[in-house]
Amino acid sequence: MKAIVFTKYGSPDVLELKEVARPNPKDDEVLIRVHAASLNDWDWGALHGVPFVNRLIFGLLSPKKQILGSDIAGRIEAVGKNVLHFQPGDAVFGDLSGEWGGFAEYVCARENALALKPPSMTFEEAAAIPQAAMLALQGLRDTGRIQPGQKLLINGAGGGVGTFAIQIAKLYGAEVTGVDSPEKLDVLRSMGAEHVIDYTEQDFTRNGQRYDLILDVKTNRSILDCARALSPNGVYVTVGGSMPRLFQALLLSPWISMTTNKRVGIVSLKPNKDLAYLKELFEAGKMKPVIDGPYRLRDVPNAFRRFGEGRHKGKVVITLEQSGGRDDH
Ligand SMILES: NC(=O)c1ccc[n+]([C@@H]2O[C@H](COP(=O)([O-])OP(=O)(O)OC[C@H]3O[C@@H](n4cnc5c(N)ncnc54)[C@H](OP(=O)(O)O)[C@@H]3O)[C@@H](O)[C@H]2O)c1
Repeated sequence: MKAIVFTKYGSPDVLELKEVARPNPKDDEVLIRVHAASLNDWDWGALHGVPFVNRLIFGLLSPKKQILGSDIAGRIEAVGKNVLHFQPGDAVFGDLSGEWGGFAEYVCARENALALKPPSMTFEEAAAIPQAAMLALQGLRDTGRIQPGQKLLINGAGGGVGTFAIQIAKLYGAEVTGVDSPEKLDVLRSMGAEHVIDYTEQDFTRNGQRYDLILDVKTNRSILDCARALSPNGVYVTVGGSMPRLFQALLLSPWISMTTNKRVGIVSLKPNKDLAYLKELFEAGKMKPVIDGPYRLRDVPNAFRRFGEGRHKGKVVITLEQSGGRDDH
């Protein structure tokens, strides 16, 4: 089968389209013919071997798992003998949650990483949803405890997590401000953000506004600056971003909650936990992925470059459909 392989850490230049052996499902796994996959920040980190924790997962000096791609959608080709809930022919999607291998024609997955794909959802839409929409939902609902009427700011709102977060926040009745680069502000408005901030022009921590909830996808600002932009009982939630800033959030959050009524929360992704709910939202027309692409399997290195340069809007999606895929990137 064809796959995008990396045998050493580095830039997207180390990614190669290669012919490799098709994987065989274990007893508790299914074999999936991949129709679409999407790129996450974690793929980017794993490709570069940074932060260091990626080397603990992938291999200290060189990657042992050589095919990236965690969010996938496709059709089940074969099932292991202990598989209970799926059969060949089922269309499925999910986050392989640490197993990887999605940028390939076939991948194996455990049952609990998958849900049935609704017929109204394309494979590309299905591949865009799992990790990013889950982070958005769990960040707003579980960590942020979002409430109707709250003033919410999303920092880094034009990428994968942010474009889902805007739509989910609107369902909760929040008033949304999205922060991103000028090229992405139209997307934020079209997703439902009432206010937008171009971060090249304005610093949201110093514009005099106060927010009840901040969802931070970039975590590139001092946690103390972010806390200052909160209303008296406000909550700051970081999804991820700069490691030094994340450590700062971890260290200072007890002090912030001791000395103020404000709270700092750090999202820890529970992969696939809410796939059924996200499916419901999609089928009810309440949430739709913003797709950048889709790009062909052979164009995965360019799709990574686009992601690394921050040129993408929403989710970067790869298609393995014969007729699909854009060449212009
Ligand atoms: N907590 C967990 O368990 C967990 C698990 C997996 C992933 N994560 C985290 O989830 C996040 C993934 O987010 P994503 O997929 O949405 O990434 P993304 O698609 O790259 O989106 C990030 C957005 O932020 C924008 N941005 C860049 N610099 C900015 C700045 N200075 N101010 C405001 N916005 C800025 C980018 O646009 P421009 O580049 O055009 O500016 C981009 O639109 C990462 O932080 C990752 O570490 C967390």
